Amino acid sequence: MKEEKTSRAQFATKIGVLAATVGSAVGLGNIWRFPYETGANGGAAFLLIYIGFVLLIGIPVIAAEFTIGKTGRATATRIFSKLGYSRRWSSIGYLGLLTALLLMGFYTVVSGWTLEYLFASVSGQLTAGDTSQMHIRFDEFTQNSWRPLMWTVVFIIINYIVISRGVEKGIEKVSNILMPLLFLILIVFCIYSLTMPGAAAGLSFFFHPDFSKITSGTVLSAMGQAFFSLSVGMGVLLTYASYFDRKTNIVRTASLTALLDTLVAVLSGIVIFPAVFTFGMEPSGGPRLVFEVLPSIFNHLPGGTYLGILFFLLLFVASLTSTISITEVMISYLTEERHLSRGRACWICGVATIALASVASLSFGPLKNFTLFGLTFFNFLDFLASNIMLPVCGLLLCIFAGWVYAGRRLRMDMLPEGVRSSVWVDVIVMLVKYVAPPAILIIFIYGLL
Ligand code: TRP
Repeated sequence: MKEEKTSRAQFATKIGVLAATVGSAVGLGNIWRFPYETGANGGAAFLLIYIGFVLLIGIPVIAAEFTIGKTGRATATRIFSKLGYSRRWSSIGYLGLLTALLLMGFYTVVSGWTLEYLFASVSGQLTAGDTSQMHIRFDEFTQNSWRPLMWTVVFIIINYIVISRGVEKGIEKVSNILMPLLFLILIVFCIYSLTMPGAAAGLSFFFHPDFSKITSGTVLSAMGQAFFSLSVGMGVLLTYASYFDRKTNIVRTASLTALLDTLVAVLSGIVIFPAVFTFGMEPSGGPRLVFEVLPSIFNHLPGGTYLGILFFLLLFVASLTSTISITEVMISYLTEERHLSRGRACWICGVATIALASVASLSFGPLKNFTLFGLTFFNFLDFLASNIMLPVCGLLLCIFAGWVYAGRRLRMDMLPEGVRSSVWVDVIVMLVKYVAPPAILIIFIYGLL
């Protein structure tokens, strides 16, 4: 990967391009965060707003990141000056770096939970209790001070071993097989969920909008969720796009990434909500939701233990491909711009991540009462990174791509080589220039007031 970086390699195949971006996009954001955000924000109305954001803001910002990356071919902190603009624009890249660290601070805590649940399912503990026991189990686990911390540290170490050895190639191959498998297993769970007694109530909650539940906070959360889930706004996609072939069809790749990502999120909603209503749980259960609902489903399925093992293994891999993409932003900055060795860069980022993640992990137990703006440290990191920093980066990217980089060049660079015009490119350019920036700004102002 290191040699590749310096010679600005390209993805060999169209599938390689898509697999890497989808691998980054599909992660805990779809399976863990999306259902609980939907549950906490009233269900179907949130889903609708979310899809609106994916179409009107998500796809255009992905396309803008892709275009800048494909044309500039450098890391997020250098690309702006390389394209000939003042270093001030590089602040988007630096903001992205900070966001990457904050994201890792809470993301790896949940990745650690997937490891705990993977081991609990291997030892058969997960299928040994009913729903209320799953509730108690989650509390006991997360409130314990050392156990979740241990898994988080284990996860961070695995992440950095993969990265320091530069074996992303290997993990890419593995995930090319495991990601479709994740998709399949979700479909199996969906089918099962739809036969549960609470299916009708669950589906109505998920698909039948009640607009009275919408507040400005809901809209801000939906926007944050869209940025988070699509991996957009932080320079990950920009960095990946710097490896794109000149012929890559940006609009098509952006749309397909968004489509697949949203599909996984919707499938996971179809798995979760029928089960929530069947077992009499609260859809607004928060970060614990998926970790209580899924084991309860395995409990009722023949061969549930094995399905549980497989599922948590897949979730672990999905979260690893996502954290690798987040980490790569920090590592490529330290190695390419600061000229540190890859090993040293990994140590620095690893230690910083462990420090943040430890406080986030302990904020479920011993540090429960330590709050910032009324949020526990975990929720604070999540809110700050997802609902504020990612949209701010997205806003700046759109302003840069649409106005500073100028509309005509954006349009030309977004078109695949040899293609002279495309209605879709025109639509996306229009969204980047006129729709996304004011929309993000307005939602911010209302959401934070
Ligand atoms: N999108 C990933 C998920 O849904 C998380 C992620 C990976 C991410 N890379 C990112 C989020 C970059 C924001 C920015 O789990």
